Amino acid sequence: MAFTKFILLTLAVASNVLAQNDACDGPSITISSSGDAQKIANCKTFNGDVIIDSTASGQIAINGVQQIKGDVTCNNATQLTAITSDQLNTITGTFSLTGLTIMSTLQFDSLTGVNKINWVGLPALQSLNFAQGVQQANQVYISNTQLNNLNGIELQAVSAMDINNNPYLTDVNVNDLKNVTTALSFSANGRDLEISFPNLEDAANLTFRNVSKVSMPSLSNVGGSMGFYSDSFKTFSAPNLTETGGTLAFVDSPELSNLSFPALTQIGGGFLIANNTALKAIAGFPKLKTIVGALDFAGAFGSVSMPSLNDVRGGSNVQTTSTNTTICDLFNQAHSAGVIKGVNTCLTNKAHPETNPSATSGGTSSTSTSSSKKNSGVTFGPSAPLTGLSALFAAIFFL
Ligand SMILES: *[C@@H]1O[C@H](CO)[C@@H](O)[C@H](O)[C@H]1NC(C)=O
Ligand SMILES: *[C@@H]1O[C@H](CO)[C@@H](O)[C@H](O)[C@H]1NC(C)=O
Ligand SMILES: *[C@@H]1O[C@H](CO)[C@@H](O)[C@H](O)[C@H]1NC(C)=O
Ligand SMILES: *[C@@H]1O[C@H](CO)[C@@H](O)[C@H](O)[C@H]1NC(C)=O
Ligand SMILES: *[C@@H]1O[C@H](CO)[C@@H](O)[C@H](O)[C@H]1NC(C)=O
Ligand SMILES: *[C@@H]1O[C@H](CO)[C@@H](O)[C@H](O)[C@H]1NC(C)=O
Ligand SMILES: *[C@@H]1O[C@H](CO)[C@@H](O)[C@H](O)[C@H]1NC(C)=O
Ligand SMILES: *[C@@H]1O[C@H](CO)[C@@H](O)[C@H](O)[C@H]1NC(C)=O
Repeated sequence: MAFTKFILLTLAVASNVLAQNDACDGPSITISSSGDAQKIANCKTFNGDVIIDSTASGQIAINGVQQIKGDVTCNNATQLTAITSDQLNTITGTFSLTGLTIMSTLQFDSLTGVNKINWVGLPALQSLNFAQGVQQANQVYISNTQLNNLNGIELQAVSAMDINNNPYLTDVNVNDLKNVTTALSFSANGRDLEISFPNLEDAANLTFRNVSKVSMPSLSNVGGSMGFYSDSFKTFSAPNLTETGGTLAFVDSPELSNLSFPALTQIGGGFLIANNTALKAIAGFPKLKTIVGALDFAGAFGSVSMPSLNDVRGGSNVQTTSTNTTICDLFNQAHSAGVIKGVNTCLTNKAHPETNPSATSGGTSSTSTSSSKKNSGVTFGPSAPLTGLSALFAAIFFL
């Protein structure tokens, strides 16, 4: 009986070899060797999931098949060294590889499109071998690998990308990436990670932690928030950025000394600058007019210059170790003139400057001190002519 089944299976496989099938249906196939993968080699499209069994060892070649309409999954195959594929160009589901302790080769000669990449715990993987480059992916999550770069991930657009805890990652350059529609996040990768997105124009949320350089010369719009935390760069510039939809934050970057946002006119959330010990002047925002949330600056800065600022809809918290009292004169005047709508706290010569996290979610004029005049029409920019008291403030505020 078992023998008969074996014959039938062999015949079925043999007939597959004879005729190329357009499509084969799953719902799934579990493979533990390249031989097992032969069962779908003659399917142009496999409608189902491909599961590489945790007992697989050595190399698995998934050859022949061009499209997998489903997931490709391999979990905890600790004896697996390589996964390769010559013709697979699309995975419509999730390409999930987790806990592959010794897998050092990932070679997909034709792969260009994946819905989701989820690679976690691939401590032997140092590089990708994707001859065509993955140009389309909605989500990319790469964590705990030994990758040195992301060459092979050649996306033009992505919804979400989260790259974390890859200690050897030092170089990321996604040249074709133009658009990030939900979020991009880098954290706890190589200490010397340099990130370059030369053509990124439009991004939703951007978060960069523990990076040493970020270059986004074309960035013109950030729909969500943009935050930099515990980074080691000295300067950051966003020459083409005009607006953020959410908060802009620079926190805990000890070498940061110069910011440059020559085109930025509006911050759609809070504006947080804190614990950047080398930042001696808060400047580089010549056109910034509006902060929709709160302004929160804490540090050792000795001057603040925002010559166009005329509307802070939240409150402001400014605390610095500097003894330059002019800074607080300017903030207090801006509050009196109605530029700052919420509560204004300003302290110079403060040994331990503190931020006001509750304020970064925005303030209202109802919580203002009695000196607020609620004259939200006050303009500090040259575009609208000023008179009287407002003009005086404009002349001295944030020089
Ligand atoms: C893989 O192994 C880890 C730890 O050994 C375990 O927690 C996890 O559940 C395993 N994953 C799968 C899909 O079996
Ligand atoms: C980015 O994607 C969003 C949403 O799909 C779209 O509105 C926007 O125009 C795109 N930006 C660019 C530069 O392609
Ligand atoms: C930014 O991320 C938050 C979640 O953290 C999300 O709710 C929001 O929609 C994202 N912004 C954009 C513009 O996609
Ligand atoms: C990354 O920065 C965070 C704080 O933002 C810090 O706690 C963490 O230790 C840093 N990680 C690495 C790998 O540098
Ligand atoms: C900056 O924006 C201008 C005007 O939109 C554009 O002509 C220029 O190419 C942009 N610069 C970069 C580096 O993308
Ligand atoms: C800050 O950086 C900008 C742009 O990179 C540069 O033009 C400017 O001179 C720098 N300012 C200082 C004080 O170094
Ligand atoms: C700034 O540093 C102080 C002291 O290390 C810490 O208590 C505070 O939470 C930090 N603030 C931010 C916004 O990281
Ligand atoms: C004090 O702060 C004001 C306002 O930012 C600035 O114009 C001035 O140069 C600062 N003074 C010193 C000595 O740095």
